[in-house]
Amino acid sequence: MTKTILVTGGAGYVGSHACKALSLAGYLPVSFDNLSNGHDWAVQWGPLVKGDILNPLDLERAIAKYKPEAVMHFAALIEVGESVKYPQRFYRTNVTGALNVLEAMERANLNKIVFSSTCAVHGDVGDNTIIETSPIAPISPYAKTKANVESMLADFSTAHGLNSIALRYFNASGADLDGDIGEAHDPESHLIPIACQAALGQRDGMYIFGDDYDTPDGTCVRDYIHVTDLADAHVKALARLLDGRKGFEAFCLGGGVGSSVRQVLETVKQVSGVDFPVKMEPRRPGDAPQLVADLTKAKTELDWSPQYSDLSTVVETAWKWHKGRV
Ligand code: UFG
Repeated sequence: MTKTILVTGGAGYVGSHACKALSLAGYLPVSFDNLSNGHDWAVQWGPLVKGDILNPLDLERAIAKYKPEAVMHFAALIEVGESVKYPQRFYRTNVTGALNVLEAMERANLNKIVFSSTCAVHGDVGDNTIIETSPIAPISPYAKTKANVESMLADFSTAHGLNSIALRYFNASGADLDGDIGEAHDPESHLIPIACQAALGQRDGMYIFGDDYDTPDGTCVRDYIHVTDLADAHVKALARLLDGRKGFEAFCLGGGVGSSVRQVLETVKQVSGVDFPVKMEPRRPGDAPQLVADLTKAKTELDWSPQYSDLSTVVETAWKWHKGRV
């Protein structure tokens, strides 16, 4: 029988790609989303329940109606800058919201959850690649809320037998390979979508935030992971839980390669064939110079490795998606 999975934030960027991957793997994804940042057009592989993780009754009704086997929890606020200005919003949605999800699960005897976390829980590790055992030292309120939820998952495991996997993403990027869905934040703050908008003439140009970092070309180095690779890792994590994996564990998920802001912009220019203006700006507060994943644990224990996370595939799929939306 088809297994149903409740996907909070299923209408969002990573959530909707996970729904497609779940459907391709034979599950029925039920998206639970208040559409504050998600899009109804992104829900294409199962029903959409319009509901809010801040309303426990919405969660209870969705679980009672669809009787999921497990939960994937994506619903959250994600803008790091906004989290610095309005931490209360982030603690409410990301921490209280996650607590509501866990309590609703417990009431329904549901004990398996895959959680959307971030490499930012590790803060700035200098030149080192990040592994799961790197210290938890979040800097922004956003990252602190994700670290809080990871602690909650571990504590619920000890106290209530909850089984959970936290996936610590590096820079989710690119778009669905078939062009069905892609990244659409409003306002946009991420590097690749902004560069695509600049190439499309939707903005006059763009800025590089800092070229005086201690990195090979002076700009920040990030590890871009194709959103389809990320989605596939969620399906593998879910299968691991359904196979009986107990307790709490975390995995770092990136492409395993660092790319500088300049390299990304050069790739967008090459792929689009447009030479848009780029100006220098001072550093953006809170940016670490370099964040790159060590994928050893994900490869060995999750049996996952990135297939589409080379920079050209990431940028080509993102470009195709943005161009197709004009
Ligand atoms: N950048 C620019 N110009 C822009 C936008 C971004 O130079 O117009 C730079 C940033 O300063 C940074 C890099 O491009 O050095 C990547 O920035 P993004 O905003 O695309 O992504 P971040 O690395 O800041 O953040 C992402 C997610 C967060 C997550 C973090 C984990 O958005 O949710 O990765 O590393 F916490």
